[in-house]
Amino acid sequence: MLSLKSLTPGARKKSTHSRPLLFSNIPVPPEIGFGNFSSSLPYFAKGDGFKRLFKQFQRLHNEYGPIARLRFLPFTPYLVSIADPDAIAQIFRSEGPMPQRMTFVPWEIYRKEHNMPTIVGNSNDYEEWKRFRASLCDHLLRPKNIPSWCTRIDDVAQDVVDRVKKEAAANNGIVTLTSTIKAYSLEAVSSILFGKRMGCITNDPNIPIEPQSQGFIDAVDGFFAVSERLIHLPPYIPLSLYKHIPAYKELSSHADYIFNVGEQLLLEKIQERKLTGDDLLTLFLQRPELNESEAISQALGLLFAGVDTTANAILWTLYLISTSTNSSEIQSKIRDEVNIAMGSKSVIDEEILGKIPYIRACVKEGLRLYPPASVSTRIAPEDTTIMGYSIPKGTLLMMQCYVMSRDPNVFDNSNVFKPERWLDRDQTSNRSKEAYSTLPFGMGARGCVGRRLAETEIYILLAHIVRNIDLQWLSSESLLEGELQTLLIPEKPMIISCQPVSSIN
Ligand code: HEM
Repeated sequence: MLSLKSLTPGARKKSTHSRPLLFSNIPVPPEIGFGNFSSSLPYFAKGDGFKRLFKQFQRLHNEYGPIARLRFLPFTPYLVSIADPDAIAQIFRSEGPMPQRMTFVPWEIYRKEHNMPTIVGNSNDYEEWKRFRASLCDHLLRPKNIPSWCTRIDDVAQDVVDRVKKEAAANNGIVTLTSTIKAYSLEAVSSILFGKRMGCITNDPNIPIEPQSQGFIDAVDGFFAVSERLIHLPPYIPLSLYKHIPAYKELSSHADYIFNVGEQLLLEKIQERKLTGDDLLTLFLQRPELNESEAISQALGLLFAGVDTTANAILWTLYLISTSTNSSEIQSKIRDEVNIAMGSKSVIDEEILGKIPYIRACVKEGLRLYPPASVSTRIAPEDTTIMGYSIPKGTLLMMQCYVMSRDPNVFDNSNVFKPERWLDRDQTSNRSKEAYSTLPFGMGARGCVGRRLAETEIYILLAHIVRNIDLQWLSSESLLEGELQTLLIPEKPMIISCQPVSSIN
């Protein structure tokens, strides 16, 4: 297979011209049609097409180099796809105070139709976004928040491990992890939001996931899946037509469920005065810049954003650990590390989180190979030059996280799960290229606000699972492919053999 590495030097070379090359000189994949009627749709629709668009982009950059110009549909502006770490560094370093990203029109239509406050991730309005972002940064991004999260998250994680162990004992060791891990993410994020457990999941596998929580999880899954179909609609469809598109109707029904159930739950908590005072919902309600409906919407946004992203990151990491050729060595290292870090403690606290570099490296490596957001976008804030080409203000820039994080030019054995690559790194090595080639949480003023919470959830669960359970990929199960449902998810439920560690040693 061709790789970015194997391209001729000319194809990778950035322009040495003092004057930038024209936008029209950026390589374009094959198009059909002519003039404004042309597009590269057939090039991307080949094979598994849009379901595996991240692979199509890999092919694009292997064939045309690290920068390409394309449009999926006729009469749409060309966007620029970039898979070069230096260019990504330049884009992030030159963002203004309000970096803009691609917004998703159907989400905005739904929001306006229901007269709802803004969705922070989908707004490019500076004043509006800043108001919402400030409270998220204060209560989610500061490291000082982490200690208060640990006990609550640990409590959920230990229940999940108990549940998996009991389920394994009743099923010859075979466990389907997908729904349990999603319920874990929902329970963990809601425990931070409300300051106490919501009751989505217990340690008893005979008690199903609480029906309303399962409904919420299914609605979020459905919302992301149908969004993937809507994202490819031409932007020139009149907004008034959206209401009649079946996929939009499906999106609306999932969103209705998410917002109705979520809002009802939040209002109940407020009315019951069941909040503990240091929970996020109380903190949002106390923010002078947010009214009650905005504070509720902010909290709901976190329930929504915090489930599938984190759950899929956990699932992919467990998958990589259990399918690696040196799986048992990796698991032993994790086990030893967490046992030493915990000593006689039974709950993972912030101090322990500081002593588990190998587990952190496993998570970083999992996110490198399967970044839940396979692409990050920015809108060029002004006329600029990227990789020697003129890029007009307003151009959509697609930064190819999946493609770059598997670039053999930057990572040796780039498709192999090798957590060690993130430890004891040589200062003179490829550090900056590696850093800008793998940015699963994005970066800068619009980087992921849930990053610290997500990482805390993932480290704690991974530590407890591997400490207690030996994971093995079943020979009867085929290896998993990723598929795009807005997020990069495993294409089928994840079934793993889980044996209690004590029964093996
Ligand atoms: C492994 C888990 C997660 C991954 C990989 C992830 C990834 C991302 C990425 C790539 C972005 C866009 C960043 C950019 O454009 O620079 C983002 C934005 C965002 N994420 Fe996450 N995320 C995760 C978990 C979470 C969680 C748990 C929450 C909430 C509790 C959350 C809330 C948000 C919000 C609100 C934004 C929009 C920020 C803005 O537009 O200012 N994320 N996330």
